[in-house]
Amino acid sequence: MKYQIPTGVFDILPEDPKEEWRCMHIWAHVESQIREISKDFGYREIRTPIFEKANLFLRNVGETSDIVSKELYLFEDKGERLLALRPEGTAPVMRAITENGLLNQGQHQKFFYIGPMFRYDRPQAGRYRQHHQFGIEAIGNRSPEQDAEVIALLYTLLTRLGLSKINIHINCIGDKNVRDAFKQALKEFLKPHLPNLSKESRDRFETNPLRILDSKDERDQKIVQGAPSILDFINDENRVHFNRIQELLDSLGINYIVNPLLVRGLDYYNEMVFEIVSTDLGAQSSLGGGGRYDGLLKMMGGPDVPAAGFGAGIERIIQALIAQDCVTPEEARPNLFLIPIGGKASKYGFKLLQELRSQKISAQMDFTGRKVGKAMQLANQVRAQHVLVIGDNELETGFAELKEMDSGTSQRIPLDSVVRILRILETSGPYLTYLEELEKPFENREDAQFFMQKVHSALEQTKTMTEKFHQQITELKGLIEESED
Ligand code: HAM
Repeated sequence: MKYQIPTGVFDILPEDPKEEWRCMHIWAHVESQIREISKDFGYREIRTPIFEKANLFLRNVGETSDIVSKELYLFEDKGERLLALRPEGTAPVMRAITENGLLNQGQHQKFFYIGPMFRYDRPQAGRYRQHHQFGIEAIGNRSPEQDAEVIALLYTLLTRLGLSKINIHINCIGDKNVRDAFKQALKEFLKPHLPNLSKESRDRFETNPLRILDSKDERDQKIVQGAPSILDFINDENRVHFNRIQELLDSLGINYIVNPLLVRGLDYYNEMVFEIVSTDLGAQSSLGGGGRYDGLLKMMGGPDVPAAGFGAGIERIIQALIAQDCVTPEEARPNLFLIPIGGKASKYGFKLLQELRSQKISAQMDFTGRKVGKAMQLANQVRAQHVLVIGDNELETGFAELKEMDSGTSQRIPLDSVVRILRILETSGPYLTYLEELEKPFENREDAQFFMQKVHSALEQTKTMTEKFHQQITELKGLIEESED
């Protein structure tokens, strides 16, 4: 019997020439950028379980939202508890905050998470039953700077990764009173158009009319063009706050589109909502979205503190990187591939392999005793940078040929120095960063002076090191000459 993966989920493989977005090294690259940017913005990592008591989502994400009403993976465990695979990360993080008293040391806390989410949706390109989200939740701050920071973080990540064809949509959906008044006006506007709306939007007319505004159906989209704008319903306080967010984004040079049709699918939002879309991903173009959700923690039994955040789909970010031809680093190559010939060399090689690895040098070895030619093929297949063949002769003389695979050149090196030589080959040094910086012009004197000081002290250190090197090289030369005599 052959087993197949369930519908709507996928494997992430070390290599997949047909579907590049499923290659592990691109995932690792994006995740490492996520961790770096979260650190730069002061967000700390949090992990919650992939399943929770179902009520957490049923009560807090919105009964009428798609992810709860249609897409929740609900199941009973053996103790007859009703559980759910998490469809999103915000409610679990709020649960973890209250349950673990994470705000006891201060009500300003910023968290990020990376992990799988589960939604029983109709699978298509860019939409999966298990997808992975990078999410952030900033707790305790109601300032427009916090809203702008949340947007800026996702924008900075996407541009750092190399994406350029992206649009930021922002909107203000006010508080509950604003939305209730707006819902009324929207329903009045939509009523005469009801027969012409899509079935999905007709179903939403009573339960969640706001969602009709961001319907993907073209007929609905034409109709809602003439709908009243929620921005005419927000109060003065909302407006001042929303304008300030826009000024802050302007000051950072981040372009955005104010889109009064953007309402987002989950119930907990108030005031600022946003989404970043890729202009070349087709229907599932939202790379990430979020907003402010000031009442959620209190509603869940926690303290009454404001919050804002977003969730971004890692699959879609990677697919956009590929669609926009962004350069992603190649899979790391092993530094050395060892080919032993015979039992003695095999024993020696296995010990050397461990020594290399304990010095953090990535190394592999042929364990099968196949012929050198075949083992070379394996070295090529794993894309080794260097190959070292060791046989009885090498063990006797204490020397072997280190072959550099890209150039095909070889160098005779002492077996005793393999670890040291490979360590030297693996080090690139901090000076490359200085060189990169030097290529950019300095806008002002202070920057240039600061840089000069840094380079100066680096050069001083280098001078001392060079002197030591010279000394050592002279000693080495002496040793070589002595041994030749
Ligand atoms: P969301 O808009 O439902 O928000 O999901 C966030 C992102 O996850 C989407 O923009 C999309 O990139 C990705 N995504 C969602 N569903 C799928 C799917 N079926 N397949 C692939 N990717 C998908 C939330 O989940 C909120 N919790 C975000 C948030 C955090 N708001 C405040 N804090």
